[in-house]
Formats: sequence, structure tokens, C-alpha cells
Amino acid sequence: LDNGLAALPQMGWNDWNAFGCNVSAQLIEQTADRMVADGMKAAGYDYVNIDDCWMEKSRDAQGNLVPDPTKFPQGIKAVADYVHSKGLKLGIYEDAGTATCAGYPGSLGHEQQDADSFASWGVDYLKYDNCNNAGSSTTQQYIDRYIAMRDALANTTPKRKIFYSLCEWGVNDPWTWGPQVGNSWRTTGDINDSWGSMMSNFQQNVNLYPYAKPGGWNDPDMLEVGNGGQTTTEYQSEFSLWAMMNAPLISGTDLRTISAADLAIYTNKKVIALDQDSLAKQAIPVPIGGEPAGNNGLWVLEKPLSNGDTAVALFNSNGTAQTMSATSAELSLGNGKKFTLDNLWSNKTTQTGTTISATVPAHGTVLYRVKKGSQASVAPSTVVSMNGTPA
Ligand code: DGJ
Repeated sequence: LDNGLAALPQMGWNDWNAFGCNVSAQLIEQTADRMVADGMKAAGYDYVNIDDCWMEKSRDAQGNLVPDPTKFPQGIKAVADYVHSKGLKLGIYEDAGTATCAGYPGSLGHEQQDADSFASWGVDYLKYDNCNNAGSSTTQQYIDRYIAMRDALANTTPKRKIFYSLCEWGVNDPWTWGPQVGNSWRTTGDINDSWGSMMSNFQQNVNLYPYAKPGGWNDPDMLEVGNGGQTTTEYQSEFSLWAMMNAPLISGTDLRTISAADLAIYTNKKVIALDQDSLAKQAIPVPIGGEPAGNNGLWVLEKPLSNGDTAVALFNSNGTAQTMSATSAELSLGNGKKFTLDNLWSNKTTQTGTTISATVPAHGTVLYRVKKGSQASVAPSTVVSMNGTPA
């Protein structure tokens, strides 16, 4: 969507994955504090987003949405002011139907009034859900409900730039119409904190790379890193894959109690730099050995970067360790070159010949930044594997 936002995928936090309906002003403000104190803000996370259940069960006599006075005793504007005072931005949630998924008033038929409320409160971001959608059946009926809010956001009183995140769960191929309507569009149903859910969302999103461009991004849903259901290796895979896919990086965990290991994943600046690279290309899955990408659960992804480097992910979705490799020809890195590889999780730098390979643990991702400028031609005999032994 050409509204001057989303030049790069959005980064931030949202309460839903970790808290469900238990959102409050206190949670939002404490999270904003932690984002500043723990380096999340410095790493680029700037949106602090309220999800469902923030409002009263009915509108007021004038038809306005009313924040739940127990959860938000000072209203939303006070929370926006607080978040802004920390140099962060505030997001909110509504629904393109008669009610939100949790049964609070939806915006259908109230788009301009609600957009004006959000603008007057100082809201910077709207996640727009798809529950209770009045029996929409045709694709155009879906699109029209999302267009109505797009146009309302563009015409608010007071005027305000509001990021527009479409949350219609991947139905009706939103990647085909989303680029004209929103700044990101969900490509999947809801994620949960399990390996199977992450894998399913990854596979639904990975081939949609032609649609991701500045202004609008494929959204495979919010991150589960930190929620306790998966291993550090698995969470590193989620974060690696989301960064390679130019996905929104929205943390869905409790930042007030996060472990050092999980925080280190969220704040890995070299991995974030892939997601936020100004060339803004979603990674392409690479066929290996004449087999389709993802064959045998082994995924090689390649992402060109603005300075001429290339990011390469070797992702093993199997339950046992696997040796993975890709030749420079398969990776479109040119023939007969040698490369310097920066391993973005171990921080080790290695040299390799024409084949990039690694032993990848079960559910693991080895993520390399392949450096430009180190590609002198070498004979194939000098190929060295990633652990430094001759390949
Ligand atoms: C469905 C969305 O996909 C979730 O991310 C969350 O916003 C819930 N609705 C809230 O009810």
C-alpha cells in the first residue's frame, strides 16, 4: 500500500500469543519499558501492539468504541502518550466484521468513526482481523471490507499515518490484492508455540516471494520465540526463516520475563539486518541436486542483499541431523568461486570453495552471510566444508 509506510517489514511486539485476552495498559507500558531497557528498541523493534479484548462489549450512545475501563483506566490516548514518550509507537486491533474474534464490537459499517478514534488517540498501527465477517463469500466481498478501512485510515480526522496490517488468515489469496490494500497481509491461519505450526506457516509463506515489496509484506504471523514450547534451536530457525522471508518481526512473548537466550535471538542484529536489508527481497527457495526446494525436508533459501552479499539459509526440518550442501552454481553465486561465510548464529567466519555445506542439527538452521569481495577463483580441490575439514 502506497501510504508512505512499510518501506521495510514492521518490527515490534504484540500481546496475543503470550497473553490472549489479558491485555492492559500496565502490560503495554511495562513492555515498552522493557523494550527500551533490554535493547529491543535499539535493535529496531518500534511498534507496541494491543490485540483483541481491549474494549467494552458495546459502543457508547454516539457509536464510539470505548476502551475497557478496568484494563485501560486512562483510555488508549494515555497509553499512546506513554509509548510515544519512550520513542516507540502504539498499535491497536479491530475487525472487518460485526464483532472481533473475541466478541467485541467490530468496525464493519463504522470504519471512518473508528479510524477517527484511533487517529485522535495517537494510534500508529492497526491490525484488522476477519471474524464475524457478515457472510462474506466472494473474494470481492473480502477485499471491499478491507478497502473500506484502508480508505478510512487515509482520511482520518485528525490526519495521522497509520500502518495497516491485514489479518484475514490467508483466505482469498491476499498476496494478490493485499499490495493495493495494506502494508502486510497474513498468509496463514494462527500460529501457535509448536514446531508443527511454525513449519506449516513457513511452508505456506515461503513460495510467496514475488509478492513482497516495499509498502507491503507477506505475514506468516507473529513470533513464538520465548514462549517455552520449543527449543533454542527451533526458535533460532523460526527467527532465521522469518528474517529470510522479509516477514514482520513481531515478538509475541512476555518481554518482562524473557530469558537471556531468547532475548539474544530477538536482538541478533546480523539476522535482523537480513529482514531489514534495503534491497528488500524475500528469499527464494533453491532447488538442490535437481530436486525441488524442500525435498526430504531440507530447505536452502537464498536472499540477495543490498551490498552485494547473499544470505544463505540451510534449514533442516527433519528430526535428525543432516549434512546439507549447495553449490555456488545452484545458489546463483557464479562458478568456481570461493567465499567468506559469516555464520550469523555462531559468529564464526569460514572460507569455502564452490560448495557451501554444513551439518545442520535436527530442526536447525545454519544461516550464512556470504561476503562479496572474497570470491577469488579457486580450483574445486580446495573446497573446504563448514567445520573446516576438507569436503
Ligand atoms: C485471530 C488472529 O489471527 C489472531 O492473531 C488474534 O488477533 C485473534 N484473532 C484475536 O481474537
